[in-house]
Amino acid sequence: MMEGLVYWILTCFVFLIVCFFNIVQSTNAQGFLSIACCVQSSFTDKNLTWIPDDQWFTNRKGCKNLNQGNQSSRIFEIEWGKRCYSLPTVKDQDYLIRGSFPVVETEGAAVFESSFTVSVGSTPLSVVNSSADLVVEGIFRAANSYTDFCLVHGKGDPYISSLELRPFNDSGYLNDKSSNILKVVNRTDLGGFGETRYPEDRYDRIWKPASSLYSPAANSTVIIHNNVNTTVPLNVLRTAVTDSTRLEFLQNDLDNGDYNYTVILYFLELNDSVRIGKRVFDIYINNEKKADNFDILAKGSNYGELVFNVTAKGSLNLTLDKGSNGSELGPLCNAFEMLQVRQRDQETDYNDVVEIKKVEEELLMPNKGNDLLETWSGDPCLPDHWPGLACNSINGSTVITDLDLSSNQFQGSIPPSITKLTHLKTMNLSNNDFSGEIPTFPPSSDLTSVDISYNELEGSVPQSLVSLPHLSTLNYGCNSQLDNDLPSTMNSSKLTTDSGACSRKSRGPTKGIVIGAAACGSAVVTIALGTILVCLYRKKLMARRKYNGKGLSLGKNVVFSLPSTDEVFVRPISIQTYTLQCIEMATEKYETLIGEGGFGSVYRGTLPDGQEVAVKVRSATSTQGTREFENELNLLSAIWHENLVPLLGFCCENDQQILVYPFMSNGSLQDRLYGEAAKRKILDWPTRISIALGAARGLMYLHTYGGRSVVHRDVKSSNILLDDSMSAKVADFGFSKYAPQEGDSNASLEVRGTAGYMDPEYYSTQQLSAKSDVFSFGVVLLEIISGREPLNIQRPRNEWSLVEWAKPYIRESKIDEIVDPNIKGGYHAEAMWRVVEAALACIEPFSAYRPCIEDIVRELEDALIIENNASEYMKSIDSIYSLGGSNRFPIVMEKKIVVPPTPTASEPSTTNPQTMAPPEPR
Ligand SMILES: *[C@@H]1O[C@H](CO)[C@@H](O)[C@H](O)[C@H]1NC(C)=O
Ligand SMILES: *[C@@H]1O[C@H](CO)[C@@H](O)[C@H](O)[C@H]1NC(C)=O
Ligand SMILES: *[C@@H]1O[C@H](CO)[C@@H](O)[C@H](O)[C@H]1NC(C)=O
Ligand SMILES: *[C@@H]1O[C@H](CO)[C@@H](O)[C@H](O)[C@H]1NC(C)=O
Ligand SMILES: *[C@@H]1O[C@H](CO)[C@@H](O)[C@H](O)[C@H]1NC(C)=O
Ligand SMILES: *[C@@H]1O[C@H](CO)[C@@H](O)[C@H](O)[C@H]1NC(C)=O
Ligand SMILES: *[C@@H]1O[C@H](CO)[C@@H](O)[C@H](O)[C@H]1NC(C)=O
Repeated sequence: MMEGLVYWILTCFVFLIVCFFNIVQSTNAQGFLSIACCVQSSFTDKNLTWIPDDQWFTNRKGCKNLNQGNQSSRIFEIEWGKRCYSLPTVKDQDYLIRGSFPVVETEGAAVFESSFTVSVGSTPLSVVNSSADLVVEGIFRAANSYTDFCLVHGKGDPYISSLELRPFNDSGYLNDKSSNILKVVNRTDLGGFGETRYPEDRYDRIWKPASSLYSPAANSTVIIHNNVNTTVPLNVLRTAVTDSTRLEFLQNDLDNGDYNYTVILYFLELNDSVRIGKRVFDIYINNEKKADNFDILAKGSNYGELVFNVTAKGSLNLTLDKGSNGSELGPLCNAFEMLQVRQRDQETDYNDVVEIKKVEEELLMPNKGNDLLETWSGDPCLPDHWPGLACNSINGSTVITDLDLSSNQFQGSIPPSITKLTHLKTMNLSNNDFSGEIPTFPPSSDLTSVDISYNELEGSVPQSLVSLPHLSTLNYGCNSQLDNDLPSTMNSSKLTTDSGACSRKSRGPTKGIVIGAAACGSAVVTIALGTILVCLYRKKLMARRKYNGKGLSLGKNVVFSLPSTDEVFVRPISIQTYTLQCIEMATEKYETLIGEGGFGSVYRGTLPDGQEVAVKVRSATSTQGTREFENELNLLSAIWHENLVPLLGFCCENDQQILVYPFMSNGSLQDRLYGEAAKRKILDWPTRISIALGAARGLMYLHTYGGRSVVHRDVKSSNILLDDSMSAKVADFGFSKYAPQEGDSNASLEVRGTAGYMDPEYYSTQQLSAKSDVFSFGVVLLEIISGREPLNIQRPRNEWSLVEWAKPYIRESKIDEIVDPNIKGGYHAEAMWRVVEAALACIEPFSAYRPCIEDIVRELEDALIIENNASEYMKSIDSIYSLGGSNRFPIVMEKKIVVPPTPTASEPSTTNPQTMAPPEPR
């Protein structure tokens, strides 16, 4: 009892210290916080007091003096995730925040290359590249009593040399944009001579002089008339540039996407003899006239500010032009600011953040230096989640749903605040050294699965735990001091437990691998993230050891990074891990081979609970396919759609990489159309449409996933699987990729796909887009129409390629020539035409002319409705007149085909799929 109390007091004390130390120590009179990373002690320089960052990061291992000079930087040698400086802020107060990232070099040579993202809270602000000095500055309104400034692991190690936080009371900047962050793109003191900042600028904005083409106009004696208030230092306004006709400022290095920008111009007429009407000019931004006949003096003062909103992409052209209005003098400008408006991303549910941070503190007390806890920094879920937990979006807010602390050698009590994570569904604390009693859970808890086995817990399992309304799995075995008997009133019918059973052998000393107590299946529910990480982490550690000392980046296989064009971003949902033993049992030692997938063989199996599964195995000896395995694991652990093959779980023991899916009893669409299955039973036309529609919906989900677009890259009829109700599920995501966004410049060198389905434009330009999938899907539509394979060199030369063979017939409206003879008379002409037209549009050689998959979904929905209505109608007629007969739908509709515009000469020449060499063998 006494011990418990002391523990509690200590815990609270530590928590308070950690939360509030920085407020006490580091802000100075103006509320400024100036952090010089890796310095030994505080110092004052030019009216600013700088403090070391040892309150945030005590370790001096990553400290380096970069740039020969005396500026030190902190380098974070991390494998994934992010490192954040959590800064004290006052809620609803505006702040300016500024991080400095000098070029990383010693003795003139670059130490390493890296590229990473800087975020304020969960909102990415800028990408930092080690090739150039960079200062990242943002203006934001604090949402909480702290604000995280984070470096998010990308390629190579992130680093930082200084961080400044300034309260900012100029409401002109954010006023109605409080849900945004303004990124400072340029702030220039035109005609100035040196940098101006605090104390001249009370908010410590840094105004840099620009070396300019234009004549300086300086007048040190000028004063602002009529007491106009401005926070811009007079030092900045005392200089300007002018020109007899026009001033033109180009900012070319902006982000490539569409962003809104705010451009602020500052004017002070420096020549007292100028009168109204003497200096009048127009202002253009990106060739759009924003101000007509602007006269600084028109408002009765010699000072003026102008604010413009503009949407731009890549560059801003700010032009002040005298025009032809007869003005005597040319334009003048004293200073300007260009700010990029960044939409603020949502952060994790505030209560969950508070509670998980308490859990962290409670764990830290008895577990100083724990590797897992060192990776816990900043927002737990966004933009990148902490290892050991997983998050989900519930009712529009991001919450923590899974916690996996297994096998981390944790000591001390189970952190009591764990019970306050109100959205937690699974909790795995197994294989640690947790001691003491199990805490009390509130009845409102959402927990469905709890694993506290293999610890040193004492007492008995509390009533509060077993009577949780949603709890279905509870493992508590192998706690030698813990009572095996559960409270008697438990609702045993829906709760599965290990009854406290213990087989000591599986208590593994290896960090991380979760080996559940029970056999495979439901008992070993764990979260994707923790385990995937373990799986990858070991590999990365090995990779890092190999390159030890060179500080190299880990290359392209780093999966837990911010979204890049290459990898698919992860937001895990719960999937299971299976032991190798379990997989071997389920497949009877890989008895039944049912196919060869993207990176390995696929076997059929049955789990102990009776579920039939398909097990995809990448063999330990093969060097190919690791990337595909990881890619598929990543994508499938983040997505779910009824028309995509779901992932049940995976196994990565003994260098085996295995993925487990539900078995699709009706095989593949290919097999049903012209494989063995087709010989047994013909796939009828309505079913063909509904399969195509299902697959299109699955692709639509992918193409719109996460606000970006995931491209499957290997759409084909053999990757469209059919479950026992003949519902289509798209499979095989080993090659899936994010479509490049604006700004992702380079084409990918490795073009993927299957001959016969390949988008000719993608093949020849290597420019990937969702339209490549649309092309391949068009080929699939032709397959369901014709029942023919996309490429068959057994046929006459002009029929090798399905696409080239079918096109002329469709153009001449000779549909009968291409329709599968097996379904002749079994379709409604209008429905058939809809599908044919959709197919034709999809296989346009130029992606720009192809529809989006959404359009195809709509077209197929219509086709299905027409077909089904026709079937109903015919049935009713049949029943009344007992007609029937072979030609169900005698009405043949005349259809006009709209021939798409002929491409112009400026467009790339096409290669037709049949003449190009097949892509890399699969
Ligand atoms: C800034 O520092 C200078 C000396 O470096 C000192 O004279 C001046 O008073 C300081 N100003 C403020 C506002 O602290
Ligand atoms: C300028 O600001 C001061 C205080 O911030 C205020 O007293 C004064 O009235 C303002 N003057 C004008 C012209 O807005
Ligand atoms: C800001 O604009 C000025 C004037 O166009 C230019 O000389 C300067 O290089 C720009 N600064 C940055 C950081 O782009
Ligand atoms: C720019 O601002 C307008 C209006 O404020 C808004 O509708 C639009 O979505 C913004 N565009 C971007 C790219 O943020
Ligand atoms: C500077 O100001 C003085 C008086 O305030 C004026 O006589 C002079 O012409 C001005 N010079 C310029 C370059 O504007
Ligand atoms: C910048 O804008 C002005 C005014 O619209 C235009 O005349 C000029 O050609 C533009 N400059 C560039 C480099 O586009
Ligand atoms: C700029 O946009 C804001 C909204 O973001 C609006 O309130 C303001 O009036 C706009 N200013 C101009 C000059 O259009």
